[in-house]
Amino acid sequence: MTNLKFAIVGCGRIAERHAEHIVKQSQLVAVCDTNEERRNLFAQKFGCKTYSSIDELLQQEKNLDLVSICSPNGLHAEHSIKVLKAGIHVLCEKPMAINVADCQLMIEEAEKANKHLFIVKQNRFNKPIAALKKVIDEGKLGKIINVQLNCFWNRNDQYYESSDWKGKKALDGGTLFTQFSHFVDLLYWMVGDVNQYHAFVKNFMHQHNVEFEDTGVIVLEFKNGAIGSINYTVNSYGKNMEGSITVFGEKGTVKVGGQYLNVLEHQSIENYVMNVPIETKPANDYGYYQGSMSNHDSVYENIIDVLTNNGHVATNGLEGLKTVEIIENIYKLAKSNNS
Ligand SMILES: NC(=O)c1ccc[n+]([C@@H]2O[C@H](COP(=O)([O-])OP(=O)(O)OC[C@H]3O[C@@H](n4cnc5c(N)ncnc54)[C@H](O)[C@@H]3O)[C@@H](O)[C@H]2O)c1
Repeated sequence: MTNLKFAIVGCGRIAERHAEHIVKQSQLVAVCDTNEERRNLFAQKFGCKTYSSIDELLQQEKNLDLVSICSPNGLHAEHSIKVLKAGIHVLCEKPMAINVADCQLMIEEAEKANKHLFIVKQNRFNKPIAALKKVIDEGKLGKIINVQLNCFWNRNDQYYESSDWKGKKALDGGTLFTQFSHFVDLLYWMVGDVNQYHAFVKNFMHQHNVEFEDTGVIVLEFKNGAIGSINYTVNSYGKNMEGSITVFGEKGTVKVGGQYLNVLEHQSIENYVMNVPIETKPANDYGYYQGSMSNHDSVYENIIDVLTNNGHVATNGLEGLKTVEIIENIYKLAKSNNS
């Protein structure tokens, strides 16, 4: 156990994962949510104080070490900046924000306050993903020439209709932001920055309840010369089907797949075999839909290591910004292709 004191903004589905991991290792002092029922549920379950607004929380709680931002995407920047201005470290859920300008303001505020701005990218901790990143960094695949990202999930009407922000442009931002931003992050993390894009996105099945695309096909050229594609949809019939990344290098090909980037499906590497422990953790299960791998324990281990032991930040604001920049560029191009 540590003496660190945490608070959470937004008591929704993902906030429960945060709270579970916080109380295992530290203290969850307080939460806030505009919804009284949601915040009271947290008080009952985790024995913490509750507030109806972030301003009240920050006025009353003077000894917090870190606040986790688990509110809707479009509020991440406003909420993170308030916490940083109060001189407290931030852990912000993905996506960091839904435009680059907001990410820049968040980074500037963290620098002014001299506080950490951690971003949740828990897929980086999936065992086969961590192993793939290692062989790329060690040069075992040689030069990376081609990469393919497939995100085939199901998000049904109940998913959008039971939320007042999912599917809404202003607070959600788009399918790449809410469903697949941590998949896009892996492309940036493994292959690097993008040079050129071609993008087609359409809303096929959700025109009645989603204000943006439910499907997209993106072609990319990376700055290192590699080319790649992102195929994504939330229309996989009836259930999630696949979340996969395939990397083709001059000396090796690796596919990490399963539904949640959790299974090493293929490897063929010159004079080398990756030894990857079987992924034992389940994906986040929200009842009528499933999310990404539940690796928030590793996110909190990293935070505690940084705050108590001078550890190295796993995902900082700049990396969060790069993912948002790639998605923002894709949407800008897709708009010009569709109009
Ligand atoms: N890392 C992951 O795997 C993962 C998974 C799910 C969601 N997320 C991210 O977490 C965030 C929350 O998603 P969710 O699925 O838990 O949503 P949710 O709708 O279940 O929860 C959001 C909560 O924020 C509250 N809220 C809204 N406005 C607020 C405000 N001004 N102040 C305080 N609280 C406010 C809502 O009442 C709600 O309880 C999103 O950014 C989402 O993209 C990440």
